[in-house]
Amino acid sequence: MSSRTSDLVVVSGDWHLGEHDSNGIGALFRVVQSLRPRLLVLNGDILDCSELHKSVLGKRQALVNGRNPLHLYQEVIMARMLLDFLVSLVPETKVVFLEGNHELRLGTVGKNQAPALFELAATLPELLGLEELGIEWHPYSQPVELVPGWYLFHGTRTNIHACKSALEETCRSIVQGHSHRLKVFPKTDPDGRTIWGVEGGHLRNVAAAYTPLQRPNWQSGFVVLSPSPLGYVPHLIPVVKGTAIFPTSAVEPTPEWIAGMWQPIKQVLSLDAQRIIDATVAGGLWDLVANQARTGILPAHTRSR
Ligand SMILES: [Fe+2]
Ligand SMILES: [Fe+2]
Repeated sequence: MSSRTSDLVVVSGDWHLGEHDSNGIGALFRVVQSLRPRLLVLNGDILDCSELHKSVLGKRQALVNGRNPLHLYQEVIMARMLLDFLVSLVPETKVVFLEGNHELRLGTVGKNQAPALFELAATLPELLGLEELGIEWHPYSQPVELVPGWYLFHGTRTNIHACKSALEETCRSIVQGHSHRLKVFPKTDPDGRTIWGVEGGHLRNVAAAYTPLQRPNWQSGFVVLSPSPLGYVPHLIPVVKGTAIFPTSAVEPTPEWIAGMWQPIKQVLSLDAQRIIDATVAGGLWDLVANQARTGILPAHTRSR
């Protein structure tokens, strides 16, 4: 397989290791291996850091739904192994890790609870070996223009208008995590420029943490950005039962299609009002269309005079 990358960008976050959806992360890895994006953005809350939540700080966690939660060092080891594997899977892909509020716990808890110890301890990027892996790290919720015209960041908002608010605040296209929803809010200016507010879903095992009655309004999935003549456009990729859902295949116009089927369609679509009236009077509009579909050629009396 070629090691060259595509022009695509994949954005995935909110894995919450320890409460993660293994099959969902597996689906993401398959997609990354297949698409070979030029850029992969890990948009925060990759680790859960559940042991650093204020409610359990200072004690080992009890069982959660009958399972032992991962200890922090186990989460770090798991994350490091996954990142190592990811980089070896797509060595040409640039990987960027944007800190989420859950990773931020390492810094805030350390600074607040044991500042002297914090100065001695390694940071999360050091623990994860990001520099050796060539992975770029950006601190929490600092919008980074990783794609032209797009700000990417983990985010702080979870309300129903999260991506709309972020888009209106930055006046740029954005991808945020944190809300765990898969959502696009587009905004087209009077000048015809469209910007996109995107929320990037999650790959967390919701069933492990919540009962069906408590099930929050979250959607499993991630985001692919693809280039277009008007800049990058977003695609939401839902993950359903461990499978990333894509349309069956890309529909590219082939030379045969352009030379054949497209010609009568284009001719009908380019008729102006007068020529349609002429055609209707002369022989009936339906005859015109049927004739074009058969021959691909407009009748003489409908051609430009
Ligand atoms: Fe999250
Ligand atoms: Fe978050």
